[in-house]
Amino acid sequence: MKIAFFASGSGSNVENIIRYFGNDDFFKFPLILSNIADAYVHERAKTLNVPSITFSREDFLSGGRILSVLQQYNIDAIVLAGFLLKIPQTLIEAFPQKIINIHPALLPKFGGKGMYGDRVHQAVVEAGEKESGVTIHYVNENYDEGNIIFQAKCPVEVSDTAGIVAQKVHALEYEYFPKAIERLWKGE
Ligand code: GAR
Repeated sequence: MKIAFFASGSGSNVENIIRYFGNDDFFKFPLILSNIADAYVHERAKTLNVPSITFSREDFLSGGRILSVLQQYNIDAIVLAGFLLKIPQTLIEAFPQKIINIHPALLPKFGGKGMYGDRVHQAVVEAGEKESGVTIHYVNENYDEGNIIFQAKCPVEVSDTAGIVAQKVHALEYEYFPKAIERLWKGE
């Protein structure tokens, strides 16, 4: 199964997933796509020896150009790992039940447009939540609203800053995102 990553930022989840599967016979990761030319994910891509490309917002929203790149690489599924644009309908239709996202909170809370990365953790702390976590879900045409595949929780202490919550959530992401992909698409 050939999986493409979409990432807008550091790409630590992309790297963690690719390293987790190593030379797996079943999963291949031939391409990383980003909307940000200087995102750190491109540096990781070089180290990992995986081609990475940057597309413009216009190309992305129209869908067609991205779709033809994905077809050139025979991509079967898409994993969003810190990707900040809404997925266009063309791609959702071309990859039914084959696009998943990770969100750094317990959806349906703390999701939606503009809720990404540290903003999410700040909102969790400001709301006085007692727990946070990760949600892995299918992607549909609305931000963070597709069916939930997996959640894991971590406690949030009264003294926790957004940075500390981020560390706890990242630890859950590194542990569970690769395993969720394996269980979902390889049945393990
Ligand atoms: C991750 O924590 C991911 O859950 C979050 O962005 C971070 C990317 O980190 N995604 C969202 O907030 C999506 N709404 P990474 O680039 O180091 O993998």
